[in-house]
Amino acid sequence: MPQIRLDKYISERTDYTRSQIKTLTQKGKIAVNGEIVKKSDTKIDSDTAAVEICGTAVSASKFRYILLNKPDGYVSSTEENDGISVMTLIPPELNKKGLFPAGRLDKDSLGALLITDDGDLAHRMLSPKSHVPKIYLVKLDRSFESKYVDIFSKGIVLSNGEKCLPAKVKAVENCDKLALIELHEGKYHQVKRMFAAVENHVEKLMRITVGGLILPEKLRFGECIELLHKDVENLFNPPDFDDFSPDFISYFSAFMLNN
Ligand code: URA
Repeated sequence: MPQIRLDKYISERTDYTRSQIKTLTQKGKIAVNGEIVKKSDTKIDSDTAAVEICGTAVSASKFRYILLNKPDGYVSSTEENDGISVMTLIPPELNKKGLFPAGRLDKDSLGALLITDDGDLAHRMLSPKSHVPKIYLVKLDRSFESKYVDIFSKGIVLSNGEKCLPAKVKAVENCDKLALIELHEGKYHQVKRMFAAVENHVEKLMRITVGGLILPEKLRFGECIELLHKDVENLFNPPDFDDFSPDFISYFSAFMLNN
């Protein structure tokens, strides 16, 4: 039963300052487990308390995790130096100080991007040691060749001499210009450079998984969903590369071909 002051609990999970929280409690705007609490220094159980401000639930997690379906033309950075930041796509009710994109997708890349303020988790996820796999669907300029499977599985050498870790790749059924590729690392422009090394060219790239986080089909470009901490732990429990349903792949493939 970890006891914590109500104002500390709220300020760790929202942008309200302690003095704003004091005023809100005095006005009877804050409820804990359905009961109005009038003093901001009241101790609550941080594991079980359901806190509401003006009838809106405060997220139980200290950190926020958002899965964005990144559209073309946005930069995966909190800065706006090279284009409009993906952070501008986060609606105000989910936005919170300290959020940043955990990992990068190129400006013209699409798909799953985790946005969080949990630095430890981002570090664990991006650390080369953790090898969290990421799966990309790519549209190629030239037909997929079966020799790529062997070349990528041995760890391809890029044009600048950098060696990649072994990667899985396969053609998408019924479409010789679409392929799925699974990487366990994140070098700069890696997927594009890997296909360039076999004299092909990536025309379009969409990330469909980050570890166990799978891009939901219902999520349109530019939309995002808040994830629960337990969903995020799935990051470290990825699906098998060969286990996706044909319907799931054909849903995203149709998009890649028709847009
Ligand atoms: N590899 C690339 O080339 N681009 C991305 O955005 C992600 C992986």
